[in-house]
Amino acid sequence: MTFDLFDNLDAPDDGHAAGGVREPLADGAVVLRGFARTLAPQLLDEICVIIGRAPWRHMITPGGLRMSVAMTNCGQAGWVSDRTGYRYDPHDPLSGEPWPVMPAAFLDLATRAAADAGFAEFAPDACLINRYEPGTRLSLHQDRDERDLRAPIVSVSLGLPAVFLFGGLRRADRPARIRLAHGDVVVWGGPSRLAFHGVAPLADGDHPLLGRERINLTFRKAM
Ligand code: SIN
Ligand code: FE2
Repeated sequence: MTFDLFDNLDAPDDGHAAGGVREPLADGAVVLRGFARTLAPQLLDEICVIIGRAPWRHMITPGGLRMSVAMTNCGQAGWVSDRTGYRYDPHDPLSGEPWPVMPAAFLDLATRAAADAGFAEFAPDACLINRYEPGTRLSLHQDRDERDLRAPIVSVSLGLPAVFLFGGLRRADRPARIRLAHGDVVVWGGPSRLAFHGVAPLADGDHPLLGRERINLTFRKAM
């Protein structure tokens, strides 16, 4: 007999989110445990389609370093980095084509998660898709290339678990270390919108759906 913890919760209104626990991180920031679990297989199918049109790539930082995280995007704009800087671009620089349309299931998940975290009006127009392999890390940074900082960031974790680093508004603030598993969603906005965050080097493992990978989706209101 198989037994799934989250399938057996009644998802009461207080303290629980779509079958998982709601875990406050800071003022304006919360982890919604398991929020994307049941939708994950569908999200992964959509990601396969997106990758067919806008393949994974390792972007170059303005300083000339190759990022260890592989990235692509969907939506009306995609986050890109090259020698000239960071920006949102309506076109994929590799193909010159618009980024793949954001699937309805992505949009629905992101708006529901934002609403659950207290951001009712979230209308994301960009989704950055990150792929981590064992050893891949993302150094502490702020998401500050978006035009409207009133909108939150919604981040969906799939595949191998990661240690998410969530700090304060100053780079020097020591970050909390939060384990994020397959299906967990983090939302940060309001007073936490410009919090420094990152991902510790990914530990090796074997995930039933994603093998030796972690994929993260971050939804933003970019334009
Ligand atoms: C990001 O900061 O863009 C991604 C965070 C994550 O992979 O959890
Ligand atoms: Fe980020």
